[in-house]
Amino acid sequence: FTTLLGIRLIVNFDSLLQGWVRSIRSQKSNLFLHLNDGSSLQSLQVVASPELNDPSLTFGSAVEVTGVLKKSPHRNQPVELEADQIHVVGECNPVDFPFKTKERHSLEYIRQFPHLRCRTNAFSSLLRVRSEATTAIHSYFKENGFVQIHTPVITSNDCEGAGELFQVEPSSAEVEEGENFFSVPAYLTVSGQLHLEVMSGAFSRVYTFGPTFRAENSQSRRHLAEFHMVEAEVSFTESLEDLTKVMEDMFRSATEHVLAHCAEDVDLFHKHVTPGHRTSYLTLLYIFYYLCYSTELYINFSSSFSQWGCDLQTEHEKYLVKHCGNIPVFVTDYPYDLKPFYARDNKDHPRHSAAAVDLLVPGVGELCGGSLREERLDLLRARLEEVGLEDTYSWYLDLRRFGSVPHGGFGLGFERYLQCILGVDSIKDVIPFPRFSHSCPL
Ligand code: 4AD
Repeated sequence: FTTLLGIRLIVNFDSLLQGWVRSIRSQKSNLFLHLNDGSSLQSLQVVASPELNDPSLTFGSAVEVTGVLKKSPHRNQPVELEADQIHVVGECNPVDFPFKTKERHSLEYIRQFPHLRCRTNAFSSLLRVRSEATTAIHSYFKENGFVQIHTPVITSNDCEGAGELFQVEPSSAEVEEGENFFSVPAYLTVSGQLHLEVMSGAFSRVYTFGPTFRAENSQSRRHLAEFHMVEAEVSFTESLEDLTKVMEDMFRSATEHVLAHCAEDVDLFHKHVTPGHRTSYLTLLYIFYYLCYSTELYINFSSSFSQWGCDLQTEHEKYLVKHCGNIPVFVTDYPYDLKPFYARDNKDHPRHSAAAVDLLVPGVGELCGGSLREERLDLLRARLEEVGLEDTYSWYLDLRRFGSVPHGGFGLGFERYLQCILGVDSIKDVIPFPRFSHSCPL
């Protein structure tokens, strides 16, 4: 095998090219085909005698071409394949095929065909970027001493305590009536964080990158029922700034890798950003308070963000990112009571503000959330008692009982990351098979 313009070729005395027809043009003396095999946005030009034309040779058909590679007379393509033989492996009826040659279909249009949309340039580019970004994230962690942990998909804990759980039960009568397969209620994971925290008692840097599930009854352009989360835990750190730095480095390094390895695919979407600004929840409170009450700058937000304890809503996140110059913004030090039981408080404001950070990005809002974790046994026990979870999480308390260390971690929504770097409006367009309420077509 060799690759040419990113396309896989079997080269011997003759070259064999396998792919799908992206365009076809028949002239008096020549037949021109452009073939693509999905390895890059580029198509390779095939030049053939018009006698090799066949009615089954249409846009979208799968073909095998044998011939000789020649220097191309055209400036924007170094070589072309002069065909001896063209074999149509799979026909593609142009009348029924939903995509037309040379037409630029919108992402909304192609989304209607989840089983066929990978055959368009836009969606195949997107999937290549997605694949490259996955590699980039794994590389970042490998290069920075993190151990990958496969956290379970089925779990009995609701890490976030947000109650958006899918319960797992066998479909057949494998268990006695009234019995439970796992003997306890089991769910699809909402986050691998607590399992990573188990590992962070023995490995100083761990990460996981896998599917995550939330039964959110939302049709929004940034929520899915099944998405992928990149989560990391760093032990022996008491510094939110250190954790923020890991989030920032990972974002930057993955984005640089994607731009270096699939610039052409990214160019189809024209967007990329790197993190920049840092601010605190308290500063935002002052800003939004001012915006709500100022006569000159008055903004009518539909939900109020005016006192300590209010949660930032999407409209505030969007406003903030836009007015910071459309660059990502880290927001730190949220009210302690807004954060889940595992978040640690700030040393200088015990039980008032949490050592927590969110990364907000243009067009998406919250991309990443992280915090230092409460590592002190007594305080964690007291917090769990307050929320009535001390029995459920007795094993979690054990982690603080035996060799506990100050640590922290974060979770980044991978689909939101792709939305952000590509400027794609809907999260449904950055995942091969989107799952959301009332939609699970194949
Ligand atoms: O803020 P979340 O809920 O944080 C956690 O689950 C932590 N336990 C992670 C950790 O610290 N290890 O989710 C993290 C990120 C969000 O910032 C968002 O980008 C993404 O996951 N996310 C979703 N993405 C798509 N669809 C949904 N329904 C999402 N819910 C969260």
